[in-house]
Amino acid sequence: MRKKVTIVGAGQTGATLAHWLAQRGDVDIVLYDIVEGMPQGKALDLLEAMPVIGSDAKITGTNGWDETADSDIVVITSGLPRKPGMSRDDLLKINAGIVRDVTRAVVAKSPNTILMLLTNPLDAMCHIALHESGFPANRVFGQAGILDTARFRAFLAMETGVSVAEINAFVLGGHGDDMVPLIGSTQIGGVPVSKLIPADRLEQIVDRARKGGGEIVGLLKTGSAFYAPSAALAQMIDSVLNDRKRVLPCAVYTGNNEGGYGVSNLYLGLPAKLGANGVEQIVSIDLTDTEKEALQKSAASVSELVAALKGFDPPMLP
Ligand code: 2OP
Repeated sequence: MRKKVTIVGAGQTGATLAHWLAQRGDVDIVLYDIVEGMPQGKALDLLEAMPVIGSDAKITGTNGWDETADSDIVVITSGLPRKPGMSRDDLLKINAGIVRDVTRAVVAKSPNTILMLLTNPLDAMCHIALHESGFPANRVFGQAGILDTARFRAFLAMETGVSVAEINAFVLGGHGDDMVPLIGSTQIGGVPVSKLIPADRLEQIVDRARKGGGEIVGLLKTGSAFYAPSAALAQMIDSVLNDRKRVLPCAVYTGNNEGGYGVSNLYLGLPAKLGANGVEQIVSIDLTDTEKEALQKSAASVSELVAALKGFDPPMLP
């Protein structure tokens, strides 16, 4: 039977994700949004493109939850970007409320699905979805590490003139300014990056990758990045639907210090083996002392957001 993927939020990221998936042709896609006509219009437009690109993907747009029933994967992209005058906590509260309500609606129709989160602040939103769904943590995780790593790889490719395929890197930690590029294990064509790029230049590239989301917002002015974030989601979906067991950096729940990174009961960007059961393993990578320290700092930032969710009146998390 063909697999079914629901995308909640038919904005730029949701619609572009539908586009990447439809091109592959091996899944049926439901595009959900509260804006009347918009998901239907985008789904129909995409469906009408299929004869041209030779894909038999079925794409449905809807404002109701019935069409989402029995999805194999549900991607949650809905949420607001931060607006002028809005505090970080305001955004946290608004998006937590959106993710809470969406998770409840999704789970009522697809109790066995796998939830993939994209809404920011990402790591904190995964906590809301985990709590509201009551799912085991292997079926609730988020995208960001692939995106952060892709930005770093793209900049390294630009710097060295080497194919992106030859650049091996991992960016771990929360999806924020203190994310952790693993310089020690970054290689270009098998050669350690530190042998190819001087330390001060490498630091500039790391800084650009850390601020990559903001760079795009600064250019677009009316929105945030959507091609790279949705391409990253498509890669996660492919690994799960085809049980590929790829090791990809994702926002995953550390439980009882799974993976041995010294972080417990927190969502954080770590290398995860993604297969038919969702997160099948948090993979251990040796970190340098500096990287360990940076990962702890990043975890502390995520913990602060989780604490804020618990401190709201009424609390968004127990
Ligand atoms: C980004 O980093 C919006 O979080 C997204 O571009």
